[in-house]
Amino acid sequence: MKPSRLILTLSTAALAEGQTLSPRPTLRPSPYNPRVPFPNPAAAARTDKVCVVQAHGDGVTDDSFSILFAFHECNDGGHVLFPRGETYTIGSAMDWTFLRHIDIDIQGRIQFSNDTAYWQANSFRFGFQNVTSFFKLGGEDIWIYGGGTIDGNGQVWYDTYAANVYTQRPVLVGIDGLRDSVLSDLSLRFSPQYYHFVANASNVVFDNIDIAGASTSKNSAKNTDGWDTYRSQDVTIMNSVINNGDDCVSFKPNSTDMLVQSLCCTGSHGISVGSLGQYVGQFDIVESVMVSNISMHNASDGARIKVWPNAPSSLSDDLQGGGGSGRVRNITFEDMAIDNVDYAIEITQCYGQKNLTLCQQFPSPLTIEDVFFRRFTGKTSKKYQPLIAAFACSSAKVCGNIHATDIKVVSPNGKHQAYCLNQNAKNLDVECTSSYKGFN
Ligand SMILES: *[C@@H]1O[C@H](CO)[C@@H](O)[C@H](O)[C@H]1NC(C)=O
Ligand SMILES: *[C@@H]1O[C@H](CO)[C@@H](O)[C@H](O)[C@H]1NC(C)=O
Ligand SMILES: *[C@@H]1O[C@H](CO)[C@@H](O)[C@H](O)[C@H]1NC(C)=O
Ligand SMILES: *[C@@H]1O[C@H](CO)[C@@H](O)[C@H](O)[C@H]1NC(C)=O
Ligand SMILES: *[C@@H]1O[C@H](CO)[C@@H](O)[C@H](O)[C@H]1NC(C)=O
Ligand SMILES: *[C@@H]1O[C@H](CO)[C@@H](O)[C@H](O)[C@H]1NC(C)=O
Ligand SMILES: *[C@@H]1O[C@H](CO)[C@@H](O)[C@H](O)[C@H]1NC(C)=O
Ligand SMILES: *[C@@H]1O[C@H](CO)[C@@H](O)[C@H](O)[C@H]1NC(C)=O
Repeated sequence: MKPSRLILTLSTAALAEGQTLSPRPTLRPSPYNPRVPFPNPAAAARTDKVCVVQAHGDGVTDDSFSILFAFHECNDGGHVLFPRGETYTIGSAMDWTFLRHIDIDIQGRIQFSNDTAYWQANSFRFGFQNVTSFFKLGGEDIWIYGGGTIDGNGQVWYDTYAANVYTQRPVLVGIDGLRDSVLSDLSLRFSPQYYHFVANASNVVFDNIDIAGASTSKNSAKNTDGWDTYRSQDVTIMNSVINNGDDCVSFKPNSTDMLVQSLCCTGSHGISVGSLGQYVGQFDIVESVMVSNISMHNASDGARIKVWPNAPSSLSDDLQGGGGSGRVRNITFEDMAIDNVDYAIEITQCYGQKNLTLCQQFPSPLTIEDVFFRRFTGKTSKKYQPLIAAFACSSAKVCGNIHATDIKVVSPNGKHQAYCLNQNAKNLDVECTSSYKGFN
């Protein structure tokens, strides 16, 4: 890191002309309140210290040093301000897991450098599916808000990945070990890969996050999931708008007590449990998930549960798996408005395996039970017409108590059919058929 301009350390009263601190956002959960109360920082945990980060603003010089300095200086009670109108460049991987009792007020724009060689050598590794990140955020009682933008400079990554699928693209917001914290009122743009990877988090709220960033070349912005949660509990994602090219939200191994509500997702692969059971010898749990009040546009799926079978399977050169065990239990998807989505609902225990005979011969050791879909409306795309959904268990012994009620979704030709494999059809408000038209 290059030394850079000094930052100012001030009290609230001494801000420069035109600089103001954003008020901490008011969280308005609807339709549900989370299981544990929202973080509520005690006034005693804050001082009136303010650290204003100065940007070089030339689009090249690394501002990491100033940012890290401000975070250290104002940690434990202060307020870090990235003023409106400033543009910051980050060219160094930073570990932010030391943060606690801090407000980070991002009004300007923070952009990561396009040095793909540097980032591949220096980004943080998460030990799950080759996930890496530009920075690692952790700690407790951290509030990040302010209406500004975090930009991953993704285009260079979309093009590099198209030339080599083993390129390790960082996720934009990498979280490891974050507690009692809030991220709100932020725009996230052009992530090289997932927008958020949320690991080892508990009682964290994402509110009013605006995600977008399409590729401008022929190479699409792949694997740009909105959120992936992992080894986390009590995460709430709400009141957000997502325009992306993979799962809108995805619950990876050991995601429990998740609340996802009032989102508008466009262009995604839906809201997904999984994929799970990818690795032999691992035990994956996704339990007590509530997904409510979602509008899903131009997507491959609405609500989805994807589990690998107990036979080695392959989706692509860099995506193979099968044979892992675990359980998916107590999952609800409700009030979902479907608009041009291939499958409104897709449950499969045969993920990555096209041969369904083989899938049923080796039923998944990862069980699925107590799953509820209710109050779905709208119209699917033509892709699987006349099917609007697919419910595929590898065996009724390892997958059951699946209910779909008030499913008022039709395919473009007015049909309301679903592919059903090893299902109790009377629990499903669709017309079950055995004619298979594929999975996403
Ligand atoms: C990377 O960013 C620098 C600085 O903004 C710019 O000059 C250069 O053209 C960019 N390279 C690519 C491949 O986009
Ligand atoms: C999460 O916490 C576990 C247990 O402390 C640790 O081993 C792991 O490195 C942490 N991070 C991730 C991404 O799993
Ligand atoms: C992780 O990277 C290695 C080496 O590039 C590759 O062989 C493997 O398929 C990747 N795994 C995943 C899950 O992407
Ligand atoms: C998930 O939790 C189970 C049960 O505690 C544990 O056996 C497993 O190792 C955990 N998996 C991960 C990825 O942390
Ligand atoms: C459902 O979500 C929309 C935003 O997509 C929001 O305007 C509306 O208030 C939410 N409804 C409830 C009951 O929370
Ligand atoms: C099931 O999940 C819901 C959240 O959707 C939660 O309120 C409830 O307590 C869970 N029930 C069990 C038995 O875990
Ligand atoms: C969905 O795609 C269609 C066709 O490209 C487009 O006209 C429409 O605006 C898209 N819907 C949304 C919500 O972006
Ligand atoms: C599918 O798997 C079954 C059972 O192992 C096998 O007999 C059959 O040949 C496979 N079909 C194809 C098309 O590979």
